[in-house]
Amino acid sequence: MKEISLPKASQLTSPNPVTLVCTQKPDGATNVATVSWWTYLSFNPYMIAFAMAKTSYSGEMLRNSGKVVLTVPGSKLADIVLACGSTSGRNTDKVSQFNIELTDLENSAIKIPCHSKVAIVCRLKEYHEAGDHYLYICNVEKVYGDDSEAALFAWNGYTKIHPIQ
Ligand SMILES: Cc1cc2nc3c(=O)[nH]c(=O)nc-3n(C[C@H](O)[C@H](O)[C@H](O)COP(=O)(O)O)c2cc1C
Repeated sequence: MKEISLPKASQLTSPNPVTLVCTQKPDGATNVATVSWWTYLSFNPYMIAFAMAKTSYSGEMLRNSGKVVLTVPGSKLADIVLACGSTSGRNTDKVSQFNIELTDLENSAIKIPCHSKVAIVCRLKEYHEAGDHYLYICNVEKVYGDDSEAALFAWNGYTKIHPIQ
């Protein structure tokens, strides 16, 4: 083996997971942002975590409201994953800009994109500084899934979005 950078390692671990993090803006509308760096944390109680850049609008919304829905996008959402991963809700209404079709979710004020495979409704428990990111640790309140959708993954250093097959 030879020494490599951590970004290079993240290419070598491709495909990496992909989620669309949905938060609520002050006017009640949904902001959608792409997040690869997430993990299950605990099954008892249910907990997950994800890391977002300190500058992200989603992080600000989450710290303000305490609420987030982490979704795993189905294959029809590949273009939305890339678009929501390269624009900020701070200056773009992504839902209207990218024609994202939203659906209601039981027990959640936050809407999520149609064709999601999994939706994890969370409350922020705590967050920690982690270099240029914050690590958000969340309690899971509800989990929903749809077997018929094919999950998307990030390939080739987050530049290509498609399912495993
Ligand atoms: C495939 C992919 C994966 C990404 N993963 C992350 C991630 O794990 N954490 C993060 O902070 N940003 C990640 N990004 C970048 C954010 O989605 C991007 O900074 C976005 O503009 C944040 O939007 P917001 O300001 O509305 O929250 C990713 C982008 C792409 C395309």
